[in-house]
Amino acid sequence: MRQIAVFDTTLRDGEQSPGVNLNLEEKLEIAQQLERLGVDVIEAGFPAASPGDLESTKAVAHALKNTSVAGLARANHKDIDAAWEALKDGVKPRLHLFLATSPIHREHKLQMSQDQVIEKAVDCVKYASRYFKDIEFSAEDAGRTELPFLRDVFTAVIEAGAKVVNVPDTVGYMTPEEYGNVFRYLKENVPNIDQAVLSAHCHDDLGMAVANSLAAVQNGADQVEGTINGIGERAGNAALEEIAVALQIRKDFYEAQTTLTLEQLARTSKVVSSLTDFEVPRNKAVVGANAFAHEAGIHQDGMLKERTTYEIISPQMVGYDATQLVLGKHSGRHALKERLEFLGYSVSEEHLKEVFKKFKGLADKKKQVLDEDIIALLRESTRSQDQDQYALEYIHVSYMNSIATATIKLQTPEGVSVEEAAIGSGSVEAIYNTIERMVSMNIHLLDYKIRSLSKGRDALAEVQVTVSYEGMTGTGKGVDHDVLGASTKAFVDSINRLRKMSKPKQFMEDKEEEETTHCVLDSFN
Ligand code: KIV
Ligand code: ZN
Repeated sequence: MRQIAVFDTTLRDGEQSPGVNLNLEEKLEIAQQLERLGVDVIEAGFPAASPGDLESTKAVAHALKNTSVAGLARANHKDIDAAWEALKDGVKPRLHLFLATSPIHREHKLQMSQDQVIEKAVDCVKYASRYFKDIEFSAEDAGRTELPFLRDVFTAVIEAGAKVVNVPDTVGYMTPEEYGNVFRYLKENVPNIDQAVLSAHCHDDLGMAVANSLAAVQNGADQVEGTINGIGERAGNAALEEIAVALQIRKDFYEAQTTLTLEQLARTSKVVSSLTDFEVPRNKAVVGANAFAHEAGIHQDGMLKERTTYEIISPQMVGYDATQLVLGKHSGRHALKERLEFLGYSVSEEHLKEVFKKFKGLADKKKQVLDEDIIALLRESTRSQDQDQYALEYIHVSYMNSIATATIKLQTPEGVSVEEAAIGSGSVEAIYNTIERMVSMNIHLLDYKIRSLSKGRDALAEVQVTVSYEGMTGTGKGVDHDVLGASTKAFVDSINRLRKMSKPKQFMEDKEEEETTHCVLDSFN
């Protein structure tokens, strides 16, 4: 069996998904779960992008004990310095350096000749070698790059010290056969390829990211890059859980394996989905809610006789708990802690106390407290631990003849209680008009979703909103027994999150190096 390294970029390429804004604690939570899953490399961020990105990459590098942590850098010395600053305390720091190579990027974005691209790439690899032992070089838009030029770029950067050469299909344009051929060509034509690892990095614009990654493995890739749940810019990145399970189930065909602990996949998917507010489609391969559901009578009959008639992946293999453990009002703090740990959350004693208080409150109103409920309580209490934010004190709504009136009391970040009222043609509109007036921000509601967290009339309601304010887009979530309570909390949460964002996510202050600034705006994906 060949061993395939897994490079996870959920916290970098995945975080580029519109509407995803993870704070430092959330990034740490995901990184720790990825370490449990056993990925080889975690790309924690793009340190030169903002002080916040540098700080969170540093925190992840510091927190992880076994996993290599990578940081992205454009091909300039300042970015490399920032990456070193963020990663130097990690156990195995890796620099992920990228420069575009395709004719379309060279001509329109970089305005550089082939020779200039090679010169810049080599200069940066050499500069980075002062700090980093482990350098990965990505030829951005490699999929649309002339093969002989790609061969020359890789030969030169390996010669300069790169240990991994990555072939991004940045725009998700390739077919599996074409992408596989690129790897075969590189294996056969880059003279020093035995001194580096070849890596695949696929985007899903044509729905072929996973198939392309597997074709790369067949043709010589020893590292695959992707994200959990396939999140990422536009249509997303290759879903790592799908690649890992495909390699396991079809080991007869691929003769390759990863070191992932597959039983951690369901939990990792849940943690990522819950913290990014990115719902996993029900029919998603490997981790979707329907992935193991059999509806048709013929299938059910077959399953009862012999599971393998219609099931190629067992739910247990990817960590689906066959028996959902239910907590209730008699469950103690220890049971709650154990369940949280099972779900992938490690909480301090102090935090547990707070979550347990909320859990008891919920168990008084709801007979069975399910995993979804517990995760929602945990999230809510994590968010409310932050002092510097608006907190809801109470809400009163009345509705008559198509006019709703909301009266709301909020505590401001400065600790002052303020009260306000406004009307709207519906209850939610009245609530949002009131809050908008209180925070003096002109907020656009882009999306509003409501769902029941579990079954039954006593289920909790979860509201998720997407809002925009002065060019920034953010999401907010609220959970409550009452749908209006959940709607209010979600809106307040989105405002708290917007306040933490100092500037639009893709805005760069780096004005010095024009062409590299474009890299971020155009193709930071
Ligand atoms: O898709 C891409 O080209 C990237 C690079 C930064 C590696 O994400
Ligand atoms: Zn990418």
